[in-house]
Amino acid sequence: MTEQEWMLTSLLECRRVDLYAERQSLTPGQEMRYASMQRRRKEGEPLQYILGYCDFMGVRIGVDSRVLIPRPETEILMETALERIKISLCDDPLRILDLGTGSGNIAIALAHHLKYTSVTAVDISSEALALARHNAASQGVAHKINFVQADMTVFLEEGTSVEKQFDVILSNPPYISTFQLGRLPRDVRQEPRIALDGGKDGLRFIRGLIACAHRHLRKGGFLLLEIGDGQREAVEEVFAQHSCYRNIRFYKDYVQTDRIVYAEKIFETEN
Ligand SMILES: C[S@@+](CC[C@H](N)C(=O)[O-])C[C@H]1O[C@@H](n2cnc3c(N)ncnc32)[C@H](O)[C@@H]1O
Repeated sequence: MTEQEWMLTSLLECRRVDLYAERQSLTPGQEMRYASMQRRRKEGEPLQYILGYCDFMGVRIGVDSRVLIPRPETEILMETALERIKISLCDDPLRILDLGTGSGNIAIALAHHLKYTSVTAVDISSEALALARHNAASQGVAHKINFVQADMTVFLEEGTSVEKQFDVILSNPPYISTFQLGRLPRDVRQEPRIALDGGKDGLRFIRGLIACAHRHLRKGGFLLLEIGDGQREAVEEVFAQHSCYRNIRFYKDYVQTDRIVYAEKIFETEN
């Protein structure tokens, strides 16, 4: 769909085909809203903020300037998680940890697609969590998700406890280097900086996650991370410093860039 079609189908609450088949006309109120949408877009506001939603893994997620807009690449993270869960983790119910949940897209889609699951969804931003909670309630999965306001590094460093044993830990952490932030397209720069800034080399969160996640994984559990352009080699080096993972694999995105890394926790007896 073109951007105009997205705006019009959202305004008229109709399908794309209806725009042409039924020759819809706008009421004066709708004309005003459409003009306002076009003006906001011209000023560089992301289309999804203007619409107020985006679709992620077949689930409608509310978005606004409090959160990062879920990206198609993150659907690869989700698809890989679902595939690996099917292969290696058959014992329901699953306990999943989503670090840096933002709009709650990953946590909500997992809760939607997996029947017996409980998800702990962590974010440092209270504003993002407010929207994530609202999204979870709208999708009828709020009872399956425990939203926690915390710094993900502190959350992971706080040692291990029975309550913190997960089958799957996944994260799409901020991974843009601080230098690159200023070079991002105008509409991306309107998204929360805290959702993008991965520190000097973009790897600040990824390093912390790899260093600590294994302590919170159950036997047979795995870690899945989304990573930035050109970060594969550096991520491999980080894994090389931690002998507690095995079967490390990279998955490419739609433009053949290494985008997702998967690693299994080594069983204690293998260590
Ligand atoms: C790249 S966004 C990912 C959002 C969402 N999970 C997605 O895939 O679209 C990263 C998220 O991490 C959160 N975040 C940033 N620093 C954090 C920290 N120190 N601890 C916890 N969450 C943090 C941001 O608020 C943001 O929601």
